Order: sequence, then structure tokens, then C-alpha cells
Amino acid sequence: MLSYISAKEAAEKWNISQRRVATLCAEERINGAMMVGNMWIIPANAEKPADKRTEHYKKTHKTELKPFVKWVGGKGQLTDEIEKMIPASVERVLTKYAEPMVGGGALFFKVLSKYNFKEFFISDINSELINAYNAIKQNVKELIIRLKDMQMNFLPLDNNGRKYYYYNIRDKFNTIVLNEQNSVEKAACFIFLNKTCFNGLYRVNRKGLFNVPMGSYKNPTICDEENLRNINTALQNVTIVCGDYTLSKSFIDNKTFVYIDPPYRPISDTSGFTSYNSDVFDDNEQIRLAKFIDEINAAGAKIVLSNSDPKNINPKDNFFDDLYKSYKIHRVSATRMINSNAEKRGKINELLISN
Ligand SMILES: C[S@@+](CC[C@H](N)C(=O)[O-])C[C@H]1O[C@@H](n2cnc3c(N)ncnc32)[C@H](O)[C@@H]1O
Repeated sequence: MLSYISAKEAAEKWNISQRRVATLCAEERINGAMMVGNMWIIPANAEKPADKRTEHYKKTHKTELKPFVKWVGGKGQLTDEIEKMIPASVERVLTKYAEPMVGGGALFFKVLSKYNFKEFFISDINSELINAYNAIKQNVKELIIRLKDMQMNFLPLDNNGRKYYYYNIRDKFNTIVLNEQNSVEKAACFIFLNKTCFNGLYRVNRKGLFNVPMGSYKNPTICDEENLRNINTALQNVTIVCGDYTLSKSFIDNKTFVYIDPPYRPISDTSGFTSYNSDVFDDNEQIRLAKFIDEINAAGAKIVLSNSDPKNINPKDNFFDDLYKSYKIHRVSATRMINSNAEKRGKINELLISN
């Protein structure tokens, strides 16, 4: 004879809440569960139903992808918080993912690893970065050969030897940039410089030439072959665009989840780093972005936007609270990663704004 347990007992057995058990019963996801009076009873031998998300992740496999560059403002530590804002059943309602200011793509690679969106769109105004995404998508074999070669030549050198090698590659990269060529060679130099320069910074002078000095990493991984190959496979399904975020507009509709992570509004006059290229992302740019957010909101997209919280410095600064007053604003705690002064790195609030 079949024996039954109560919802409370099932909750204890499966280490979930009683309410969750009731929901699972109501959704008919537990074979043989029955309502008796106003209580659910569950066959004692019933298996704990897989969490829909876990089940989904398993079904879609996939290999975990990691960003291939370290990027200022990279959202590595915030991705869990942002991910919570992606509805569990997202792909039933939304089939497209857009990240119009992708940078190093901390969230993008997580989403690409885990979720089954049918179409992906990424863009960035940094043409050297986008050239690297394209090289991985189109020419990963040649890219890996070049990066392996650089790794083999660079790592055994002493500090002086490494400096000589580094500045040589930096000159070579800048020459290619000046000639406005997009190439696998430029992508290899770009990734090499990112892995070996000071703090993974991307900073250019007025002429647009990369001017970051060498960093002091002992044993940097210049060629993560497995990750590059996995990214190559995953990118085949992704539209990659170089240019202003507004170019994403024709892709975005009411089936699209959009994550936008603009350059920081400086949190103080001296420590702010907002210039990823020769253009600065000032308050007017933030206002232009807010208008774009209004447009894609009107188009029905599900939007999450992150930004630094000016209240970290000045509690009376309501810039974003005013700009996004018709949206939901969450404040989450994070450690600001790139600050040349290590003592100034600390806990601050980041803003997550959503519709
Ligand atoms: C904070 S970073 C994004 C970091 C990213 N979330 C990550 O995980 O690495 C902002 C990015 O916006 C890009 N950007 C700046 N202005 C832009 C514009 N007008 N259109 C598109 N991208 C832009 C920068 O090049 C930079 O890569």
C-alpha cells in the first residue's frame, strides 16, 4: 500500500520550504500528490522535482564560458545579483538577449553558457575589443597559434626581457591601429596586452593609441585555448556590432532581455575612470542613454541597467534617482575593482535599474 507524507515532512526531506512543496503540488509536478481537506499529501517515495532552472541548465548543457579579457567595470562580482533579475521562465517569454555595451562580457558569457535564448546581439564602441570578438568567432585557430607563440616567448623572459617584448607588441598593435586594419594579428596583440598590461586597463592617448605600461603579473595566462575554442562555438549564434549602443535598437523588441552597463559616472573628480576610448561618458551621455532606455522600454523590452551610485560620495546626489524615476532602482553592495590606488578599493553601492 502506498504511504503518504505531509507537505511539512516533504519540505524537511527535500530541504525546501513548505510553501514551495505546495506550489510544486499545485503545478502537478509531484506524481501522486493529492489535496486532502486543505492539505497536500505526497507519496512517501516521491522524488524531489528538479528545480526548473537547474533542469533547464542541465538540458542546455553547456560549457562554462569566461570573459577572454579583464575589463574595467567588468561586472564579474555583480553577475549573480543581475542574474536574479532575469525571470526564471525567461526563455518562454523572451527569446532574444542584447548587451549593447558588452565590454568584457561578464554577464554575457554567463548568459551564453546557461540560457537558451534564440538570438544574441552584442556591441561596443571600442573597435579593438570588437575586432577581438570577431577574430574569436571567425579565426580562432590562427588566433590561438599566435597567442600560444606569444605566451611561449614572453613567460620565460626576465623582467627586462619581458619589458622589451611587451613594448614591442604595444608598438606593433598601435601601428596596426593607425593603419585601421582589423585583423587576427591585432586581436592577438590586444589580448596579449590585456593579459600583461597594468591592471588590464585599456587606455588610449588623444591619437587613440594604447598607452598602458606593462603590469607585474608573474605567470599570466595569455592563451586560454579551451575557453577560446568554447567561445568560438558559442559566438556562431551571436550578432557582433562595433558602434554606438543605439545600433541595437532594430534588434530589440518585446521578446528581448537587454542588459546595459555604461561607463561609470565618476565617483569622485580624481579617481573616476570613464574613458575607454577618446570619448568621455559624461552626464549628457547618461541623459542620452536614459532616453534610449525609454525608447526600448516603450518597445516592450525587459531591461536591466547598472551604474555606479553617486550617493557613495554625495548622499544628496539624486542624478540617477531623478533620471530613472519611473523605473525600479535597487542598490547592491560591490567592491570597486579598478582604482590605481589599492587603498581606495572598497565596498560601495552599485545601482541596478530595471523596468
Ligand atoms: C562598464 S563597461 C562594460 C563592462 C562589461 N559589463 C563587463 O562585464 O566587462 C562599458 C562599456 O561601454 C562601452 N561604450 C562606451 N560608450 C559606448 C557607446 N556609445 N556605445 C556602445 N558602447 C559604449 C565601453 O567601450 C565599455 O566597454
